[in-house]
Amino acid sequence: MRQLIFACVALLLAASVGRADEPLDIVIYGATGEVGSHVVQEALDRGHRVTAVSRQPEQIQKRHDMLSVVKGDLLDKASVTEIVTGQDVVILSVRGVIGDSGWPESALQFMAAEMLVDVLFLQDEAPRLLHVGGSGALEVEPGVLYAAKLPTILLSKGLEVEILGQILALEFYGKVDDVKWTYVTPPKNLTNGPRTGVFRIGGSQALEDDRGRTRVSRADFAVALIDEAEQATHLRQQISVAY
Ligand SMILES: NC(=O)c1ccc[n+]([C@@H]2O[C@H](COP(=O)([O-])OP(=O)(O)OC[C@H]3O[C@@H](n4cnc5c(N)ncnc54)[C@H](OP(=O)(O)O)[C@@H]3O)[C@@H](O)[C@H]2O)c1
Repeated sequence: MRQLIFACVALLLAASVGRADEPLDIVIYGATGEVGSHVVQEALDRGHRVTAVSRQPEQIQKRHDMLSVVKGDLLDKASVTEIVTGQDVVILSVRGVIGDSGWPESALQFMAAEMLVDVLFLQDEAPRLLHVGGSGALEVEPGVLYAAKLPTILLSKGLEVEILGQILALEFYGKVDDVKWTYVTPPKNLTNGPRTGVFRIGGSQALEDDRGRTRVSRADFAVALIDEAEQATHLRQQISVAY
């Protein structure tokens, strides 16, 4: 009897982790980027099937049985639709500014969020969307975003547009209830430190360590993203990742 109970508990536990034991189909936009390249590696190391997207796929030299490299542009709706259809998770880790209007709406981070929501909400079994956010969208004190504390005079115009575009993207997601999104926010400092697998997950507030630092390595940030891809524990929420 005791063995039967153990077997049932084991089955229930296995069911509660959903597809985590099976490979997921994960599309990564920004696969050639500083953050995205770590995400590709982490997903492959954990046995998932990865589609790495780039406007210039020949930039990606990596070869792996579970890796497909495809050409794609987030500004092209037909291409986005073709690439994301049938996938389990789409990870958006891109940056850029389109044109020179200087408006936050011209940040690729915002435009891509709109584009993906536009495509995904039409799909019956749409993939989940994990958006790599910006630390400017984290609260540093109640009601005050980190972006408001930044010395804009020291920022390039492009970076300012991207920071504001990331905040706009989060506000946009806040009104989206027909797509399963998660806005995964890095801390102020993303480092090239090692993968430790040890970090904290917070909400919309910036997390500080005991020395007042807000940081995480890109490798550990990638672990947090793939954890979320596997576990889907923070649907339609902003989360933050830091030591
Ligand atoms: N502390 C912070 O808050 C912090 C720090 C760093 C980064 N971030 C965020 O992290 C994310 C990734 O940043 P990163 O530093 O890794 O960027 P990155 O190294 O500059 O890479 C940018 C990526 O965007 C892709 N991309 C640009 N235009 C595209 C388009 N039209 N269609 C498809 N892909 C396009 C590029 O792909 P191809 O050129 O291959 O097409 C490239 O892989 C961004 O959202 C950024 O805001 C936050």
